[in-house]
Amino acid sequence: MGKMAAAVGSVVTLAAEPGEDAFRKLFRFYRQSRPDSSDLGAVIDFSAAREARGTGPDARKVIRSQLSVSSVSDHDAHRAGLQPVSKWQAYGLQGYPGYQWHWVKQCLKLYSQKPNVCNLDKHMTKEETQDLWEQSKEFLRLKEVNKRRPRSLLEKLRWVTLGYHYNWDSKKYSADHYTPFPSDLAFLSEQVAAACGFQGFRAEAGILNYYRLDSTLGIHVDRSELDHSKPLLSFSFGQSAIFLLGGLKRDEAPTAMFMHSGDIMVMSGFSRLLNHAVPRVLPSSQGEGLPCCLETPLPAVLPRDSVVEPCSEEDWQVCTSYLKTARVNMTVRQVLAIDQDFPSEPTEEKKRDITTEGFCHLDDENSQVKRAKLNPDS
Ligand code: OGA
Ligand code: MN
Repeated sequence: MGKMAAAVGSVVTLAAEPGEDAFRKLFRFYRQSRPDSSDLGAVIDFSAAREARGTGPDARKVIRSQLSVSSVSDHDAHRAGLQPVSKWQAYGLQGYPGYQWHWVKQCLKLYSQKPNVCNLDKHMTKEETQDLWEQSKEFLRLKEVNKRRPRSLLEKLRWVTLGYHYNWDSKKYSADHYTPFPSDLAFLSEQVAAACGFQGFRAEAGILNYYRLDSTLGIHVDRSELDHSKPLLSFSFGQSAIFLLGGLKRDEAPTAMFMHSGDIMVMSGFSRLLNHAVPRVLPSSQGEGLPCCLETPLPAVLPRDSVVEPCSEEDWQVCTSYLKTARVNMTVRQVLAIDQDFPSEPTEEKKRDITTEGFCHLDDENSQVKRAKLNPDS
């Protein structure tokens, strides 16, 4: 993993203009931003902050926070593909770059399979969505030669849900829509949560987002989980994005920061219920290149009980081709407190009151349907 960005409470606010809320204003600004321009001068770069030891213009905003070094053994960190916690920094975690491939491959090849749920299920049969990877890999290989070919199924994949499957319409999780959470991702999440002081974190639900360069993720708060005292973990891979972290209310202007490949964002405590959004995925500066941390081949030696596995040359090629114009984000959530159960179904009367505010899914600039927050397919 590359770096870790821990979102810790303190948010710098800018004055909001009357009329449009401050968050929306910056969302539009970054959505339209030109990647090579001075537009991006105010975006916090945790990797630059690390190299400059926090003396750059970003330094005032970047806060170091303590990690619980003794909570995760060096061996368990290594099993999850992470460096010893003593080497992590609250905003910067220098890692073993090769292991990022494991998670990218899982997102594309394994987690996209049944029984997990994805956006394609709405319009396609189980048979048609079976093994998106096998169906798409030749397409992706051809991508280099023929740019005008139809999009493969993998390229149409927008989201996958794991564990307690998030219901985009009701904005709820429920006891009767659950499939086993992938054990490797649960293990990774437990190590990261423990290092941040959350021993006993349980990975119960996951939302995986697959961004193209024109995708955005609208302004939202993740409040559907029933226990907000547990952190929300977010892992980013592939192309970099601008992440906007706002306040409890939309009229507070957000802080912009880069999310690079390998970054882990931990939203906990005060930050757990803050507004946030992704207005922009940035094309790589080297044309259709990959972030350099993904160009490194896999390390040869893995622990015997490692949960990350080597990635074959063939799989690696498919992932590379996909990631050149994509970003993958995995969020992991604990839904229930220990011993907590889902509440019984609300009465019809209460159902009518359910707010329409809440989590929204990816939006593509070029998608035919300009989706509203309530329409989770396409
Ligand atoms: C989410 C989310 C942010 C990202 O899935 O809830 O906020 O960086 N993702 O993609
Ligand atoms: Mn979110």
